[in-house]
Amino acid sequence: ALIRKRLVIGNWKMHGARPTNATLLTGLCAGVGVAHNCEMVVCAPFPYLGQVSGCLHGSGIGWGSQDISKHQQGAYTGEVSASMLSDFGCQWALVGHSERRSFHCETDQLVAEKAAAALGAGITPVVCVGETQAEQEAGLTQEVIRRQLQPVLALGAESVAKLVIAYEPVWAIGTGLTATPQQAQDVHAFIRAQLTELNVPQVRILYGGSVKASNASSLFAMSDIDGALVGGASLVAEEFLRIAAS
Ligand code: G3P
Repeated sequence: ALIRKRLVIGNWKMHGARPTNATLLTGLCAGVGVAHNCEMVVCAPFPYLGQVSGCLHGSGIGWGSQDISKHQQGAYTGEVSASMLSDFGCQWALVGHSERRSFHCETDQLVAEKAAAALGAGITPVVCVGETQAEQEAGLTQEVIRRQLQPVLALGAESVAKLVIAYEPVWAIGTGLTATPQQAQDVHAFIRAQLTELNVPQVRILYGGSVKASNASSLFAMSDIDGALVGGASLVAEEFLRIAAS
């Protein structure tokens, strides 16, 4: 039996406006039937979460945020807490996306704390990891992934069992360069081995980085790739639905 249900998450990043969101969300709701045995989730910018929940409620498509505070409440100007996200029906939160790590100096430790904050509110954290091009060329991929995962895995098997991991090689994000299915599978197998040590076979590992309808099936054919985290291609309903249908 398949213990890991397929999962395709759209990361809108800092894209969107009320009218275009409405078109996109309506398109997703209309086409959700094409995605059999696949969970679909949309991660939108904070201000649109109300609009997203209004449109997707009852559709079978889930929604979430692109970041979350490690704090529960208090004097943290600009931060958004897990309970606020829950108020808007978010069941998912991206944490540690490479753009947060590089532009906002998020450390491996902070990412783990954010994952813990999400879990504390019943939100599923999608923990993003991935090496840069320089690190890949230096042969450091496994070392980097191990370092990024270490504080997350230290949360313990009970917590890790409830999260999702996304492997996004930084050199493949928004560049049109996709890791080959075998390249991605090799890293996924490396991550899987660490999950196996914790005895959490149910944890899904998503691939991200220039996933499109045209390359999704070959990625999903690999044994340790359980779905995708999709950037650019999640902004067009037909394309995102075709990925989920794959
Ligand atoms: O989180 C998704 C992402 O970083 C990949 O972006 O545009 O290459 O699919 P993109």
